[in-house]
Amino acid sequence: MQFTEEMFARHMRPINGSAIREIFKLLARPGMISFAGGNPSNTALEPQVISGLAREALEQYGTSLLQYGATDGFMPFRESAAAFLRDSLVNCEAADILPTQGGTQAFDVLLKALVNPGDAVLCESPTFLGAIQAMREYNARLISMPTDEQGVIVEAAEALIKQHHPKLMYVIPTFQNPTGITLSLERRKALAALASKYGVVIAEDDPYRDLRYSGEALPTIQSFDEEGWVVYMSSFSKYVAPGLRVGAAAVKNPLLLRKMVIGKQSADTHSPLLNQAIVDAYLRKGLMPGHLQRICGDYARQLQAMLEGFRHFPEGTVHTVPQGGLFVWAALPEGMDAMKAFEAAVEAGVAFVPGTHFYTEGGHMNTLRLNFSMSDIPTIEKGMEKLGGVISKL
Ligand SMILES: Cc1ncc(COP(=O)(O)O)c(C=O)c1O
Repeated sequence: MQFTEEMFARHMRPINGSAIREIFKLLARPGMISFAGGNPSNTALEPQVISGLAREALEQYGTSLLQYGATDGFMPFRESAAAFLRDSLVNCEAADILPTQGGTQAFDVLLKALVNPGDAVLCESPTFLGAIQAMREYNARLISMPTDEQGVIVEAAEALIKQHHPKLMYVIPTFQNPTGITLSLERRKALAALASKYGVVIAEDDPYRDLRYSGEALPTIQSFDEEGWVVYMSSFSKYVAPGLRVGAAAVKNPLLLRKMVIGKQSADTHSPLLNQAIVDAYLRKGLMPGHLQRICGDYARQLQAMLEGFRHFPEGTVHTVPQGGLFVWAALPEGMDAMKAFEAAVEAGVAFVPGTHFYTEGGHMNTLRLNFSMSDIPTIEKGMEKLGGVISKL
C-alpha cells in the first residue's frame, strides 16, 4: 500500500505548509543574513528574568500550576491581561479574556467557532501567511479587501460585504504583517460601524501594537464596538517570548466566548498554567514598560538602518516607512520578479520573503517583505547592500 495525497482530509490538501518555514531551512546555511521570518531579536529575550519568575510562580502556586487547569484560563493571568489590554484601550474585563497559545490559537478557535466550509471570510490584501493557512484549513472562501497606505479601503470592504455576506473579517490594524501599515483612526471607526451594520465579526489581530517607534498610538477597532462584534487578539510573543506561547483574546460576546472555550477544550484542554503565570508575574511586577522601551529603542535603530539601505535598490523601488512593528514592505519597479531576486539573493547569502506569498490570489511578483528585528545594524547594512546589488543586476 502507498500513502497517497487522497488519503489526507480534503481540507488539508491545498495546504503546503508555510512558505516562510521552507525559507527557514535555507537560513541554516552558515553566514546567511536573514530578513525573512518575524521573530523578536534574541537580545530581546530574557532567560534569567523568565527563570526567576517561573521559580517564584512555582513557589507561590505549588502543585496547582502542574495540575490540569480550566480551559477558560488561569484567573490571575486573565486579570492582568485584561488590565494590560485596557491600557491599550481595549474595552474588557477578566471575564472577557480567553488565554490562548499565541494569537495563532485565538484565530484558530474563532474560525472553529464560526466558519462552515465555503463561508466567505474577508482579509486584507496582502495579509499574514499564518492566517491564510488557518482560514484555508477551515475551507473558508477567502475574499481579499483592497488596501492603501492607510490600511483597508472601507468603501471596498462594504461592497464586498454586500456581495459575499461574510461572517468574519480578519484585520491586522497596527504595523501590519507584511506591510507595516497602520489602519487610520477614521477607518477603525468605520470598520467597527460596518461590523454592527452588517453583523460581521471582526478578528482584530494586534500583536505588534506596543512595538511603536514613532507617532501616536490609535484606539483599537474594538474600542468603537458597542455590541460585541469585534474580537481583539493580542499576544505576548513579540513582547516577551514566542516560545512561551501565551496570547489572549478579548471577547465581549459571552456566547461566542463560550464557543471558543469549547473549541479550545478539544484542541489542548488549556494553555500551560506555568506560562500564563510567568506572563502574569511579568505584567504584575511592572516589567513590561521598561522592557518595551528598551526593545523599541533597539528596533527603531534597526528599522532606520534598513530604510537607509534602500539607497542600494534600483531606482523606482518604493517601500513603506512603518512607525513600528517588525517589517518593511517594498515594491520593485514594475516587471521585476522578487521570486527570481530571492533565488539570486539566497545564493549571495541574504534571505527575505517574496511578497506574492502574502496574497491569497498570488501575483504581485515585484513585492517583498523585509524583517529588521533579527539582524544587528552592521548586518542590516551589509545585507541591504548585498540585496540591492543582487536586485539591480536582475
Ligand atoms: C499578524 C500576526 N498574527 C499572529 C501571529 C502569531 O503569533 P503568535 O501565535 O506567536 O502570537 C503573527 C506572528 O508572526 C502575526 O504576524
